[in-house]
Amino acid sequence: MITITFILKNGSQHIVDADQEENMMQVATFNGVPGIEGACGGFCSCATCHVYVESTHSLPPPAADEISMLQGTAAKREKNSRLACQIKLGPQLDGLVLRVPDMQ
Ligand code: FES
Repeated sequence: MITITFILKNGSQHIVDADQEENMMQVATFNGVPGIEGACGGFCSCATCHVYVESTHSLPPPAADEISMLQGTAAKREKNSRLACQIKLGPQLDGLVLRVPDMQ
């Protein structure tokens, strides 16, 4: 089991434990994290799971389709922007901190 912290729009923290989910979008939606919709179900085609990676964890680089979706769809894209559905769960991500954008 790993612990993930989501920083919400109002600055509060939503801390969840995860071990069954496949990716961070599922962690957010299964645990009721506000502001993460996951409308496409994790198929990298909606960007309603946009998050900012705020911790120093080393993530695999985004694939071309994730980059394209972030460039074309995500609001307020920043250099630490990622699609939560493309961040696969793993023990190396224990303590990961993700910030939810002001809007999707
Ligand atoms: Fe649609 Fe992530 S859930 S792009």
